[in-house]
Amino acid sequence: MSTLSRSSGAVCGIGLGLRQGLASDLFASELPELRFVEIHPENYLRRGGRFRVMLARARERWPVLTHGLTLGFGAVEPAPHSYTRELRDFLRELDAPFHSEHLCFSSADGVMLHDLMPLPFRKEAIDTAVLRIRELRDTLERPVAIENVSYYAHPGQPHMSEVEFLLEVLERSDAKLLLDVNNVFVNAKNHGFDPYAYLDRIPAQRVVQLHVAGHTVRKDGLILDTHGEPVQDAVYALLAHTLRRTGPRPVLLERDQSFPKFEVLAQEVKRLDVLYREAVGEQADAEPQNQALDQPGVPWR
Ligand SMILES: [Fe+2]
Repeated sequence: MSTLSRSSGAVCGIGLGLRQGLASDLFASELPELRFVEIHPENYLRRGGRFRVMLARARERWPVLTHGLTLGFGAVEPAPHSYTRELRDFLRELDAPFHSEHLCFSSADGVMLHDLMPLPFRKEAIDTAVLRIRELRDTLERPVAIENVSYYAHPGQPHMSEVEFLLEVLERSDAKLLLDVNNVFVNAKNHGFDPYAYLDRIPAQRVVQLHVAGHTVRKDGLILDTHGEPVQDAVYALLAHTLRRTGPRPVLLERDQSFPKFEVLAQEVKRLDVLYREAVGEQADAEPQNQALDQPGVPWR
């Protein structure tokens, strides 16, 4: 059985999301380049049967990372304790090295919006996010990572840039970062900033995981973050640049809809693996380390 230790920091390389639409192909595949899978805990909590069977099968083959969809850090009220305690027990069962959620607004008055709404780049939103991150970390009793989201319109007048907002949240909450490289690209093109300048300001030691995904360009030029297309060359280039700064990290290929034939996805995983090894200088048989989790002097809390 693959074991995943919080202290080993050994989850690195290319991963895929464990999605119902992909599971049977994944289990049937021989794809040594695939080094981990990512799950949404919401798909497993309070569920047994085939979901738990699928998870147990996945754990026999790969380390499992967890990425939540419901606890956006912009929520005005704290998350329900009944839910976060269940999540804590679930992560404990998986021995998850960290847990990630989005830096966005996704619920109000206990109602889920089922969308990742942008936060205003202002001090009040930073104060709220820092509070929510600390609360979650205290309940989960493990490191919490925040993911940068894509957005199409800023709510009101921003008081700072996106990256300044992200950096201040990270600094004040002492959180880890799940850096979505495609989201940086999409926002850079839609809002007119340099994605390389953004990425160069990110403190590499905070990055515990990376995401890449496909996007689509509308006729009017707006770029939509769809997770339903192949990763574009410009995003491969940004990923390589990022990995050269961070060193070995888990890189998830996000594909959530319009699944192609599995062979096509497998080719994408292989292309990412080649890029990954070139960027971090990893030998095929080397044991990589996610130093953001193991590095002395970089506290988890
Ligand atoms: Fe993402």
